[in-house]
Amino acid sequence: MTGGTRLIGEVAVPGAKNSVLKLMAASLLATGRTTLTAVPDILDVTVMADVLTGLGATVTRAPQERVPGQGGAGTAGGRLWIDMPDEAQGAADGDLVRRIRASVAVLGPLVARRGEARVALPGGDAIGSRALDIHVNGLTRLGAVVDMEDGVLVARSDGRLQGATIWLDFPSVGATENLLMAAVLAKGTTVIDNAAREPEIADLCAMLTAMGARIDGAGSSTLVVDGVDELAAVEHETVPDRIVAGTYAVGALMTGGDVLVRGGRAGHLAIVLEKLVEAGAQVDVRADGFRVVGREQPRSIDVVTLPYPGFPTDLLPQVIALEAISSGTSLITENVFDSRFVFCRELHKLGADLRTDGHHVVVRPGTRLTGTRVMSSDVRAGAALVLAGLVADGITEVTEVHHIDRGYAHFVEDLRGLGADITRVQSLAVV
Ligand code: EPU
Repeated sequence: MTGGTRLIGEVAVPGAKNSVLKLMAASLLATGRTTLTAVPDILDVTVMADVLTGLGATVTRAPQERVPGQGGAGTAGGRLWIDMPDEAQGAADGDLVRRIRASVAVLGPLVARRGEARVALPGGDAIGSRALDIHVNGLTRLGAVVDMEDGVLVARSDGRLQGATIWLDFPSVGATENLLMAAVLAKGTTVIDNAAREPEIADLCAMLTAMGARIDGAGSSTLVVDGVDELAAVEHETVPDRIVAGTYAVGALMTGGDVLVRGGRAGHLAIVLEKLVEAGAQVDVRADGFRVVGREQPRSIDVVTLPYPGFPTDLLPQVIALEAISSGTSLITENVFDSRFVFCRELHKLGADLRTDGHHVVVRPGTRLTGTRVMSSDVRAGAALVLAGLVADGITEVTEVHHIDRGYAHFVEDLRGLGADITRVQSLAVV
């Protein structure tokens, strides 16, 4: 890509990656056809579909026709059908599971419904140690016996799981979801305390409730689940992707642009939009999304990531890129993952003046960014490097863009629709 153009126009936000993957796992809880809408056209959905196919489901996808829009771009996602037979398999394919972390979400529903789940240790982005102890401890509290057998996590339950009170050491998103999906079919009442409150969890609660589950406290840190005997397959629309929406918002500010993020829910990005306003953006919340206008060099802001409703870790790299072109010094603190800063090395190659120390990074105002070849190390780092390339002098090449494909549908096309001078060269995105 060649930097220097402003992002101007509209972009539509599809359903959230971090929701749809769990909604897909929830289809394991019922026999019959689950229909998901607003499904993003991303690589992780393909991998999760293969995981479910390996478990005996038939998965069919209809990606939405792309609508070029008036001066805009984007898709609000397609449809996906999952036909779940009466008797799903209990073992998820190891090679597939290792490719995405979210595939561990099949553990809870499989052990709840089949009495046994075998899941090879999951993979995903290289952004930290990402242990599974909270998942395992919670399932054990529900009466499952969980062991590691040759790199495969095996959870077994002799009969139905038993409701229990579970206090999470940390409000882990994945553990909350897994335990929720196990508890809905357990016998009796489960209380999940210190639960994660991300909008994607409220979305999962909404779908489970439509399926017949009894859940109190959706969106809060205490979830009370009364187990039921069986659930029914339903149709459900995926909540819009707040991280994709936030990425375009940061891009609008960085490029001095004017972007209507159609379908973006401002309420799910309250602290992020507040911070962007502090940094100089004008934000208008509308019924169909929100509009972000950047008119001047951004002012520096300090950011601390925390579980929702705190500032999301998944927007941290994008904000570091923003800070690299801001007018003052900023201090960024990451509290969720321990190695999200590997991205800083690549941003430094573009000329950013930053220094990391533990889980802090100090970004100083430097010279302008200058295009060069950089590598994406994870999905958000990749998106952030593209944003940096959009404001760098000259040509920036971002490699390993398969990471970006994991979470951003048609990123290059959508940015071009907003006026960016960016091309995808086979597996290489040239900005
Ligand atoms: N953790 C533990 N033990 C556990 C579970 C988590 O120590 O049993 C730790 C992790 O190591 C990490 C922290 O707790 O340091 C947070 O992990 P969490 O379980 O909340 O995250 P996750 O479920 O693995 C999801 C998203 C991430 C997002 C985080 C936080 C999916 C598929 N992934 O991960 O998304 O950053 O929640 O919001 O939903 C991304 O999309 O780029 C991404 C990494």
